[in-house]
Amino acid sequence: MCGIVGYVGFQDAAEFLIEGLTKLEYRGYDSAGVACYTDDRIEIRKKVGGIANLTAYLQERPVHGHIGIGHTRWATHGRPSDVNAHPHGDEHNHYVVVHNGIIENFMELKRDLQAKGHVFVSETDTEVIAHLCEELDTGDFLETVRKVLATVEGSYALAFMNRDFPDTLICTKKDNPLIIGLGEGENFIASDIPAIIARTRDTYILNDGEIAVVTAAAVRVIDREGRPVDKKVHHVDWSAAAAEKGGYEHFMLKEIYEQPKAIRDTMAMHIRRDTQEVYFDELGWRPEDLQGIRKILITACGTAYHAGLVAKYYIEQIARIPVEVDIASEYRYREPLTDAATFCIVISQSGETSDTLAALKEAKRLGARSLAITNTVGSSIAREADAVVYTMAGPEISVASTKAYTTQVIALLLLAVYMGRINGKLSHAEEEAIVRDLLAVPEKCHQILEDVDDLKTFAKNYGFAEDVFFIGRSIDYAVAMEGSLKLKEISYIHAEAYAGGELKHGTLALVVSGTPIIALVTQDAVKEKMYSNIQEVSAREAIVIGIGFEDDPELDHFVRHAIRIPRTHRFVAPILAVLPLQLLAYYAAITRGTDVDKPRNLAKSVTVE
Ligand code: G6P
Repeated sequence: MCGIVGYVGFQDAAEFLIEGLTKLEYRGYDSAGVACYTDDRIEIRKKVGGIANLTAYLQERPVHGHIGIGHTRWATHGRPSDVNAHPHGDEHNHYVVVHNGIIENFMELKRDLQAKGHVFVSETDTEVIAHLCEELDTGDFLETVRKVLATVEGSYALAFMNRDFPDTLICTKKDNPLIIGLGEGENFIASDIPAIIARTRDTYILNDGEIAVVTAAAVRVIDREGRPVDKKVHHVDWSAAAAEKGGYEHFMLKEIYEQPKAIRDTMAMHIRRDTQEVYFDELGWRPEDLQGIRKILITACGTAYHAGLVAKYYIEQIARIPVEVDIASEYRYREPLTDAATFCIVISQSGETSDTLAALKEAKRLGARSLAITNTVGSSIAREADAVVYTMAGPEISVASTKAYTTQVIALLLLAVYMGRINGKLSHAEEEAIVRDLLAVPEKCHQILEDVDDLKTFAKNYGFAEDVFFIGRSIDYAVAMEGSLKLKEISYIHAEAYAGGELKHGTLALVVSGTPIIALVTQDAVKEKMYSNIQEVSAREAIVIGIGFEDDPELDHFVRHAIRIPRTHRFVAPILAVLPLQLLAYYAAITRGTDVDKPRNLAKSVTVE
């Protein structure tokens, strides 16, 4: 999620570290830091805010040396602050580390280490790694790192420094990217290619579990078992702009493809690895905490509002608590019936949307307890709400939201399961069934994302349509609304979503020969009804693209084109079904040549009313 750089060679390390971090700024971050070996010790400099703050601080308190590591942080554990910024060291800066990702068992490790006398200064999961290195130190840098890796669970890209080995960096990765840049008499480490392409285009791309021992003269890579790996040099020929997007043409496409990881990271925070029980340590609710709630109010804007619509189905059907979903800008002005028996959930990727913030304040003023679901630690909404659940989407740059949406839906489904278990409305078997299918989501997303040729063809064939309608029933209706928003905001095609049963009350008048209709058919309880609605539009010669399960034999029979998703639980289906809709919108925008990442008139974060 964050950015990592490292340098060992003959030049001034801090100079490259700042240069490399600056190249990673586009990814979004809230603090930055560097560590360099200088005068027999490792010195750390880190500051909250932009790299300019760090640079100014380095002018006051310079660090010089020929080896160092640097980091831009996007907060996940602990708010953005100087002390939570990376690098992190143990009490003596014997070991110093930078880390991208999440250490899932950090609480257990931290407790053990504290019991052994280690003193922690930050709220981060990363700090445990430095202390663990010191605790397990064998005198052999590589051996110590291997022992530490055998102890930690989670996802990571890590770069280590060790005061006793002033000419060596060690780095490794699991589920987070890390590359080594190969120079002459110098070598580089980076989480992303843009950080190094001004210095070298020859790289080693590390695979999960591989560990690189990097000195100025050589890079030695070993695998999980400690066997040497003969790495092939990968020559990067991307332009600087392409490198920022990881080789994808647009940030939106990159973010669509980041969804399996974002979803896995979000689930990892709330599904216990051993028991597969859903938990929310940040909430710690007991049955009595839910007893007083007569109504849940969900309020948000745009895509986040659509995640809220999906959550209404989840919470009502799983926890049997009535849910009202309101557009934040409407909620504020409708004299809402909110009181101390209302529990307010606000959803916001940025945590800064002014209407959502104002709605939250209004709900609190009226006496409601509140919970924010947000992607941005320390944001205004996170600070204002009584409790916060963070999604782990990582920075989202494209205006059209994709991975933020799917992680919001994941967090909300897990929350509904948590509530249902606490208030006794959800059976153990049903919880197990939902969690089992949730855990399979990242893999099923990969399957969908690997097979996009049909979607590209549809986008080419129908990309110049004037109007497109999205239809669905039950939760599929909420997903249809998100699909419609995606299409209109980036391709500028007029698109609307309707509940299948509502067509005949008006919209059917607009359906003529050749009108494209995207129909979602993932909810078995209303499947037959949905097929009737599809027949209604097919009878008017509409072109129906149906999205349904791969094992639904009827789908082909009713629709002109079928897009198939892997079979899953009905509550998990919205997460899979939205992927083809995002891709369809993306490729329609490509067909029409619009500015995908920055659609006209729209902004990523709307901080004005
Ligand atoms: C803007 C963005 C949308 C986003 C909405 C709410 O309109 O373009 O992508 O869904 O704001 O933003 P939030 O940060 O509160 O989720």
